[in-house]
Amino acid sequence: MTADATPVAAKKVNPNAPTEETVLEVKHYTDRLFRFRLTRPSTFRFRSGEFVMIGLYKDDGRPLLRAYSIASPSWDEELEFYSIKVADGPLTSRLQAIQPGDKVLLGKKPTGTLVHDALVPGKRLYCFSTGTGFAPFASVVRDPETYEKFDEVIVTHTCREAAELDYSKEIVEETLNHEFLGELAEGKLRRYGSCTREAYENKGRITDLIESGKLFEDLGVPPLNPETDRVMICGSMEMIQDVKDLMIKAGLTEGSNASPAEFVIEKAFAG
Ligand code: A2P
Repeated sequence: MTADATPVAAKKVNPNAPTEETVLEVKHYTDRLFRFRLTRPSTFRFRSGEFVMIGLYKDDGRPLLRAYSIASPSWDEELEFYSIKVADGPLTSRLQAIQPGDKVLLGKKPTGTLVHDALVPGKRLYCFSTGTGFAPFASVVRDPETYEKFDEVIVTHTCREAAELDYSKEIVEETLNHEFLGELAEGKLRRYGSCTREAYENKGRITDLIESGKLFEDLGVPPLNPETDRVMICGSMEMIQDVKDLMIKAGLTEGSNASPAEFVIEKAFAG
């Protein structure tokens, strides 16, 4: 054997290979949306608001992975994800059929910008989301750090139809009624849901609600202010761009992990 020879078995072990986790719970909200919970390896660490690759093995035995925001907070012993169902989506067409006891692949490197570390201190946190873009905020609003850092937390969720808002409604209600989080979130956390294609208490795109000032009027808060307000944005590419333009117009600067500032963005991932 030469000095650099490595046993074949050792060569095959990839330290970055996804782990196989067990599905613990699945809940379908609409025919297009569902959430599921997985076991969490004790070595799996992440910051609330981050995303990770998850997936399934394909028929040829190779993994098919997509980026998903982790919807559970970093203290949770389990992992939660919120997903769209796409009939011909390579991953979601199969993922939507998972049942408790099934296995799902979990990547080892969570990352992302919708994290407290990427924002400078402020008084009021806005989390603007559309569609499955609410997922990272399901994590952020359930993290005690959010309430240590901010006096007020306003999470907005806009969807085409009212039934698509059920998940964010449930998460915020659960947070406010939670035995420990409830006390921290009480009087700080508020949710503003709006619909664009169905009658609802609030109507319209979040961009229109910001521009017209209706959002701030309805909430009874002053207009956006770079001195006090911090913002996280998650939705489609177009939504992010349009909301980002409004933040810049209001005088806020985009931040990142390397250079924290007043607002941060991330595309909502669709499997
Ligand atoms: P709309 O119904 O007016 O298109 P989607 O399912 O297409 O991702 O949309 C989710 C929600 O985001 C919908 O309510 C949609 O409104 C809204 N939306 C889509 N594009 C934008 C955008 N550029 N800015 C703000 N909201 C948007």
